[in-house]
Amino acid sequence: MTNKRKISILGSTGSIGTQALEVIEKLQDKFEIIALAGGSNVELLKQQALKFKPKYICANKEIKIEGIKTLQGPDGLEEICSNKENDIILVAVSGKIGLKPTLKAIENGIDIALANKETLVMAGDIVMSAAKKAGVKIIPVDSEHCAIHQCIKDISQVEKLIITASGGPFLHKTIDDMKNATVAEALAHPRWNMGRKITVDSATLINKGLEIIEAHHLFNMPYDKIDVVIHPQSIVHSAIEYADGSVIAQLGLPSMHIPIQYAITYPERYEGIKSKSFSFSEIARLDFEKPDYEKFPGVKMAYTAGTTGGSMPVCFNAANEEAVFAFLDNKIKLYDIYSIVEKMMSSHSTVINPTIDEIFAVDKEIRTKTQEYIKGRIYK
Ligand SMILES: NC(=O)c1ccc[n+]([C@@H]2O[C@H](COP(=O)([O-])OP(=O)(O)OC[C@H]3O[C@@H](n4cnc5c(N)ncnc54)[C@H](OP(=O)(O)O)[C@@H]3O)[C@@H](O)[C@H]2O)c1
Repeated sequence: MTNKRKISILGSTGSIGTQALEVIEKLQDKFEIIALAGGSNVELLKQQALKFKPKYICANKEIKIEGIKTLQGPDGLEEICSNKENDIILVAVSGKIGLKPTLKAIENGIDIALANKETLVMAGDIVMSAAKKAGVKIIPVDSEHCAIHQCIKDISQVEKLIITASGGPFLHKTIDDMKNATVAEALAHPRWNMGRKITVDSATLINKGLEIIEAHHLFNMPYDKIDVVIHPQSIVHSAIEYADGSVIAQLGLPSMHIPIQYAITYPERYEGIKSKSFSFSEIARLDFEKPDYEKFPGVKMAYTAGTTGGSMPVCFNAANEEAVFAFLDNKIKLYDIYSIVEKMMSSHSTVINPTIDEIFAVDKEIRTKTQEYIKGRIYK
């Protein structure tokens, strides 16, 4: 990169956002920060603003810092994404709040480094076709999609995507262990340090389900050509198989700094945050196994949601998110998440080719139904 790349980060106070700032700190001469946006963690956002001196900051609460223009709430996120000064926007907010700003950035021809899962799970068809039309790059941040992005030379010759999964904290535990799991046990991920919601999704493997739907949209790959394999060491981040049987995988130490850096510096590569060199002999062994779909039924539910299409992935995502919040609040057991998601999906009348408004309407409806169901009300 000859000129500094102008970047904004939505979700700078989160797990991905803070790691992105660590990457940018290492590559100070490569980036200029236009805007930083968080939600309610105003203290951290202030510290970040004082250190990185963006032109704009945005939070869900009022915030004042001399010399920096402050924006507020979802409108503020969209204003950031309308600012054509940006070369790239890292969308690292959690939840459905990421969707509209992403579409706004695409509308304005700004490339996206995409961490937010909900954007593609809820509206993958709309987002990817808008990006294609606008000539906007969507560069995935998630380690699995980042791996596939790095492996693919010519998508038309790819026969299969192979997404790896660490298996989470319950990989070698029984279904009964999972049924009796505490919040602390579900949050004790053996490999990755992430936000709470995604960590629970990793424990149920529903995260892998969301990734299957994202991969389908990102790489325009039919669901029957997307496989999942358990790989507990999280060294192989995913792979692709070409028509001739060649398999290309991307490997690296399990650190989100690497895919974040790849996404925001693409197509350049720099030493940046790399802490040590990769050593096959130190790693010594790589294990792979088939996922246990009986113990982790959420992966099959994701395939069903994806192949049904329309608004079904919105239903899958909303029901899961509400159930995860209820679990984190100790209102339900971990394993109830599956039956709640299944219940919501089986009673959902799919909207075909939903518009953005219909997507948000379905999301709202399913969240209300899920909350009522969790409260034990009669659900019809
Ligand atoms: N963590 C990972 O390793 C990882 C890997 C792949 C994909 N992802 C995806 O990346 C996204 C972020 O994950 P994360 O783990 O970084 O989550 P996180 O640690 O929970 O951070 C979420 C970020 O979003 C902000 N946010 C949440 N609600 C908001 C709202 N209504 N308005 C404005 N900002 C809001 C939060 O702000 P405050 O904290 O200030 O409220 C925070 O900055 C998720 O979609 C996740 O699935 C994460």
